[in-house]
Amino acid sequence: MINLFRNLFPFIVFLPTFSFADTTENWQLGFQDPATPIMEGIINLHHDLMFFICVISIFVTWMLFRTLWHFSYLNNPNPSSLTHGTLIEMVWTITPAFILLIIAVPSFSLLYAMDEVISPAITIKTLGHQWYWTYEYSDYINEDNEFIEFDSYMLPEEDLELGQLRLLEVDNRMVIPVNTHIRVIVSAADVLHSWAVPSLGVKCDAIPGRLNQTSLFIKREGVYYGQCSEICGINHGFMPIVVEAVPLKNYVNWISTKLTE
Ligand code: CUA
Repeated sequence: MINLFRNLFPFIVFLPTFSFADTTENWQLGFQDPATPIMEGIINLHHDLMFFICVISIFVTWMLFRTLWHFSYLNNPNPSSLTHGTLIEMVWTITPAFILLIIAVPSFSLLYAMDEVISPAITIKTLGHQWYWTYEYSDYINEDNEFIEFDSYMLPEEDLELGQLRLLEVDNRMVIPVNTHIRVIVSAADVLHSWAVPSLGVKCDAIPGRLNQTSLFIKREGVYYGQCSEICGINHGFMPIVVEAVPLKNYVNWISTKLTE
């Protein structure tokens, strides 16, 4: 009972300011909750493919055990002399090809949907460094003709406040509005990194001297956690990504405070 109260306490007291953090949970097996149409598409494709995988594995396992059974002298003393047949070979060639064709249709449509950048309202450049991320909002310029640019470092364990996630929280989050087409330009300053946020369905390599591009359209407010996903050196595991999706009004406020800083 005391434990129940302890667990519910933050929910009761801080309910008005409570928001779900999109991150991993203990013993998680499936995906994190999607926040973009792309991630919804990825999860749906995964579920579609699971159907084919289940049918194929059950069928192949059944055939394997049936073969083993009939290979036994006790069960089948007079083996068949059949070595090959045109019909069976056509069936086991055409059927898998046909399955692959069926799978290819939703797979390709998702692939091209992920590649599409629909006339973005905001462009954000993210640069991977050893071992932190830099975010540049070059759409906005302040009085000194400087655009918004800031570093995003992981919070060390001793600086964490109650409720903040170890190895995932950063000092400066990337803030973006919901329901807006956003272009993210990804690059790196030193070595290969990868900008990845599972809930948003984004994993984009950050390559020095090269600009990669992805798009985001976040459907709900929230805090989305991700990590660098390309081995980039000793602190590879300590350069997390935090994306905070807020209503457009709050985003405009955030931009104006950043510009006056
Ligand atoms: Cu940066 Cu791994």
